[in-house]
Amino acid sequence: TRRIGILTAGGDCPGLNATIRGVAKALYQKMDDVEIIGIVDGYKGLIKGEYHVMKPSDFSGILTQGGTILGTARTPYRNMRVVENDIDKVKLMKENYKKMKLDCVLTLGGNGTHKTAYLLHEEGLHVIGLPKTIDNDIWGTDVTFGFHTAVDIGTEVVDRIHTTANSHKRVMVIEIMGNKAGWLTLYTGIAGGADIILIPEIPYDIDKVIRAVEKRAEQGKGFSIITVAEGAFDIQEAKMKKKERAEKRAKEGITTATSRIAKQIEGKTGFETRIVVPGHIMRGGSPSSYDRVLASQFGVYAASLVNKEIYGVAVGERNNKVVHTPLGEVAGKTKFVPADDQMVETARSLGISFGD
Ligand code: F6P
Repeated sequence: TRRIGILTAGGDCPGLNATIRGVAKALYQKMDDVEIIGIVDGYKGLIKGEYHVMKPSDFSGILTQGGTILGTARTPYRNMRVVENDIDKVKLMKENYKKMKLDCVLTLGGNGTHKTAYLLHEEGLHVIGLPKTIDNDIWGTDVTFGFHTAVDIGTEVVDRIHTTANSHKRVMVIEIMGNKAGWLTLYTGIAGGADIILIPEIPYDIDKVIRAVEKRAEQGKGFSIITVAEGAFDIQEAKMKKKERAEKRAKEGITTATSRIAKQIEGKTGFETRIVVPGHIMRGGSPSSYDRVLASQFGVYAASLVNKEIYGVAVGERNNKVVHTPLGEVAGKTKFVPADDQMVETARSLGISFGD
């Protein structure tokens, strides 16, 4: 019997269950004698040896379900090699992998998950990584599952904000998740017809942001929609190290750029301004049809890698083809929005300001 482990790690997102189902269905089709081991709560379950032997029926009816049937947890990569209270996490993961009699383990996760997957590969385990995140910031793939569902959710948020912004003639500052990358904000902003998009990759000048808002008012447009990436920062902060930036913000009593931007706009223009933070709503609920298809494709492809015993790789999509890349080439890298990305240019041509 071949025993295939699956775990989901890091922040959840829509499409995890669709991927798990894709892997399972394809494995059951391809192999006569296969058992799928569901590891509980990501690497935490591998460290603690918590798992379930799954039945084919466990994978039915989950295509449309948000979240993850396996549970997830954040077990930061930076702590993986740290031995605390005599707990050697890497050693335990290797021992449990053996105890579970695994032939390989599929890790569904983001950048942190890929780093630990690579660590385990280096330690001699058979690992295949699959790219999950609403942030779309994973190297080695054009797109991650979860991203487009989050764009759809963000678009609905912006659409709904539009009508109330228009009625009240307000400036609405919407903070969008995405960690350090601006993909989600960029796509949501374009899809929702935002007037200003602020992303970490293009530090903003608040005077230019305010000028863009004023210009709209001069043109008779009484409201403005600004989508701000949670990781955005201004041109002064761009010159600072992470720690210095955090200290500056602590002094100002803010954590993200959003609240500062709203205050600055209201202070300088007198326009009534409101903040909207959809937060984890961006990650909740059922995957979109796009993500169901992508997740299914990734899952099936991962099953074919298992079948061919190709390990130490990460699944991804490049130029509309599902491919795999050595984990060593993707782990530890973050895919940011290039400042001259075609999508940025598209936004600029639509008259959207980046505040630069
Ligand atoms: O990586 C996904 C993500 O939702 C990011 O966009 C966000 O910065 C982070 O996770 C939030 O983390 P948590 O769920 O731990 O609050």
